[in-house]
This record gives sequence, structure tokens and C-alpha cells, in this order.
Amino acid sequence: TLETTIGGRHFDNCMMNAAGIRCQTNKDLDALVASKAGAYVTKSATPHKRAGNPAPRMHELHLGSINSMGLPNNGLDYYLNYVVEDEQKRPDSTNFLSVAGTSLEDNLAMLHQVQDSNFNGFVELNLSCPNVPGKPQVGYDFDRVNTVLNEVFQFFTKPLGVKLPPYFDLVHFDQIAEILNQYPLTFVNTINSIGNGLVVDPETEKVVIKPKGGFGGIGGISVKPTALANVRGLALRLKPEISIVGTGGILNGQDAFEHILCGASMVQIGTQFGYEGTRVFDRVSQELTEIMAHKGYETIDDFRGKLKTF
Ligand code: DHB
Repeated sequence: TLETTIGGRHFDNCMMNAAGIRCQTNKDLDALVASKAGAYVTKSATPHKRAGNPAPRMHELHLGSINSMGLPNNGLDYYLNYVVEDEQKRPDSTNFLSVAGTSLEDNLAMLHQVQDSNFNGFVELNLSCPNVPGKPQVGYDFDRVNTVLNEVFQFFTKPLGVKLPPYFDLVHFDQIAEILNQYPLTFVNTINSIGNGLVVDPETEKVVIKPKGGFGGIGGISVKPTALANVRGLALRLKPEISIVGTGGILNGQDAFEHILCGASMVQIGTQFGYEGTRVFDRVSQELTEIMAHKGYETIDDFRGKLKTF
């Protein structure tokens, strides 16, 4: 079985989509509900509908993907209505509502609205969008993260997690974990895309996406080692009440297995879900099940976080 538990909520399958990819419309979300995924997360919402950045704003290549979408989304009301209606139909399911205000005020206003609603699922507070011109990734400003969480937990009592950018220094793992451990977080989702990479087309001698002069978030196969380091680095430092959602570079069952070995209780698939659609959840589930059967593991808790070192 691939079942898992986060914050006391049960999920039949430990894999789901990653925010941003194929989760922007009701139709996208209906497809996720009908899929093998154990949950879904909605496209990061801002208070009002946004068109996002000009096209081309996403490019796929063999070593992964680059995007600078710029938070195109239908606004918080749209996603909040969807998840609340879904909970009425399927009261035993838990899903994730992603919010990504471009200011502290927007985040607090949205979380007040969620607090005052009937929503009973998880909120994924996105502190790591790299693609809004002029708005730095909050997750790289540790004092800012502390301020945001301090303000949020003055009033927010529903289950909440944060989506973090990748860190590249062990001291940064220490510093972010020390802040996160002060709050009643249900989960931490690591990693968002590796921000502000640059892909060059040598033929045309040109960048491949339009926003920000071609700079954009990198996802897919090339981010896996960074993702595993962040899952492991945080698993070793966060208090046990905070579950880890592992995201980044998951293309197959082996990748999911590695994320779980590093400490993930749930894994999210972004770039590869974009390529493959909801069939990815059937395929990766089957591959992970085969790896577990081969190794004699019955549940993911048999090996979760049990990575060996020399
Ligand atoms: C977008 C990209 C992200 O990585 C993110 O966390 C939120 C939004 C975007 O460009 O739409």
C-alpha cells in the first residue's frame, strides 16, 4: 500500500500533483480528482484573477523545464469554492489549497478568508514564487519568513504548510529549520523550482522564454539532487510534528522512493505531470509498488527517512 498520513489526515496514495502544473481550472482539478493521485493542490492563488506574464513563458527540454508563468490564476474565490464543494461531495478527502500573495497584506487577507470559510483541508502557503518581477522569493529572507509566520499564526488555526525554495548551504538549513520549528506547521513542502535559471538556444542565439529577459524557474530531472538534499536536510532538522512533502525531479517510482527514503511523507510531481498527464500517477504508483515489493516493504513508513550514511 502507498497510503500515508500527514497531520492526522489519511491519504490512500502518497503521490499528487505539484502546484502550478495542470491545476488552474475546474477541468484540470476534476481530472486530478478522478486520477490515482492521493490528493491535489490547486494553482497558487492571489486575491484576484491574474493573467500572468507574457508568452512564451514555459519551455520543456530533456534536462527539465524552465518557466516564468507569473502566477496566472483565477483568484482565491475560484479555488476556495472548488475545494469547499469537493469536500461536500467527498467529506473524507483532504486536499491542498495553495496561496501565493505577492505581499504580506495579500497573504494575510487570503488566509483570513480561508479561516472564515468552511474549508477543512490543508493550506500550502507559497513562500517561493520566483517569477513575479520585482518581488523577491520570501523564502530567501529568513526574517521575512519569521514575520509572515508570526502574523499568520496570530489568527490561523487550520492546518497549514509552507512551500519553500531550495537552499544550497547547510547553515541555511539550520537557520530556516530553527524558524519553522517555532510554529505549529503541519507540513513543509520542499522544493519549489530552482529559481532564475537561464536556458539558451545556441541556434537562434536567444533565450527561450520572454519574461525577465529569459530567466525562469527550473524543474524536472535536473533538480532531483537539490530536492533530495532539501528533503533530507529538513527532515534531519524539523520537529517530528512537521511532515515533509517532497517535490522536485520525480519522473518515476525510483525517484519517489528516494524522496521517501530522505524523509518525505508525500511526494509531488510537477514537470513530469505536465508532460504525461494524470497517467503519471498510475505509472509511478505501479513502479513504486514494485520497488517496495522487491525490497519487502509493505508501507512507506517501513523506509521513510531511513536513508543510510557511512
Ligand atoms: C509561479 C511559479 C512558481 O514557482 C510558484 O511557486 C508560483 C507561481 C508562476 O510563475 O506562476
